[in-house]
Amino acid sequence: MAQQGSTMPVDFIKLAKPDLHDLQPYQAGKPRSELKRELGLTHIVKLASNENPLGPSPKALAALQQEISHSHWYPDGNAYALKHGLAEHLDIPADEIILGNGSDNILAMIAQCYLPPGGEVIMSQYAFATFAIITTACQGVPRSVPCIDWQMDLDGMLAAINDNTRLIFIANPNNPTGNYCSHDALYQFMQQVPEHIIVTIDEAYFEYVTEDDYPNTMTWQAEFPNLITTRTFSKVYGLAGLRIGYARAHPDIVNILNRIRLPFNVNRPAQAAALTALNDHEHLHRSVQTNTQGKEQLAAGLQALGLPHRPSVTNFLTVKMPKPGRDVFNALLKEGIIIRPLDPYGLHDYCRISIGLEQENAQCLNALKSVLSNLI
Ligand SMILES: Cc1ncc(COP(=O)(O)O)c(C=O)c1O
Repeated sequence: MAQQGSTMPVDFIKLAKPDLHDLQPYQAGKPRSELKRELGLTHIVKLASNENPLGPSPKALAALQQEISHSHWYPDGNAYALKHGLAEHLDIPADEIILGNGSDNILAMIAQCYLPPGGEVIMSQYAFATFAIITTACQGVPRSVPCIDWQMDLDGMLAAINDNTRLIFIANPNNPTGNYCSHDALYQFMQQVPEHIIVTIDEAYFEYVTEDDYPNTMTWQAEFPNLITTRTFSKVYGLAGLRIGYARAHPDIVNILNRIRLPFNVNRPAQAAALTALNDHEHLHRSVQTNTQGKEQLAAGLQALGLPHRPSVTNFLTVKMPKPGRDVFNALLKEGIIIRPLDPYGLHDYCRISIGLEQENAQCLNALKSVLSNLI
């Protein structure tokens, strides 16, 4: 019952679980619409969220349009058609697949199911920010292991395992560093992780990687039942706005995750578009090719401007700026260019630039040139 005469308003921040009091929300790429509202700009180039600049597969768009007319029907909560499409595409059993409202939904479900309060989660320094957020949200303890020269220290992560360790999160390749762990390094790591600790390998950028020693951990399930591999339709498939990702895991882990999965977490149009996108090999090929060419263009342009960048097997470049990355980001906004400052990762001199279309990369480079000459 409300207290009569009380003048003190309830502090709804303090009312929340203590672990959430200091938790900072994930800082997503600035939306185009927000910049339009703020500065009244009409032409905006956004290279901040590692999206596919070609957009979705035209075939997926057609499937989407058709499915939209059935929006008054609930989706198939079990996503039978898409799961079986994925099973065939990946040559894996359908009961080892779980779908998420974006792959980040699956990461959260893993923590909700397998991380008790106080349980520790091992991740690398500069790991994808969502890992720490979902750990804290579940009242777990993130254990961040320093990188060695930007590279994930897998031995250091093994050494960090203790009796409280419940989960390990690895993004391979990693965002925002753009680098990856090799097949042998990751395989040897998995051999040494105790079987009761669940290792999630987040392969959001899998399709972009062409290096021979890059592992496909979806094929490791039989050897490592404690391994979960997540992938997404948000990147190369160009369906970020529909929010759909998937994972392969042991059937018992899938069974547990399904117990807390909200019944209709993946909507009808997303399921239809994803299934069609999966089979549009031409669009996938074109997307990877566009990325390769765009990356060469952006790298050459950055070099001409004297801006070093990290080696990247993904669809973005992490660039060292001569001024604080946040200042460069803010100055570029005024030119209608959105990139991503990396200060939330402690990388104050760095920005991340997603690979765009040729014209977008050129516009970004031109704007960078003029902005940097004014900032210096
Ligand atoms: C490493 C990594 N994992 C997961 C995600 C999120 O993917 P989704 O859109 O499927 O939630 C991203 C998005 O940037 C990412 O970089």
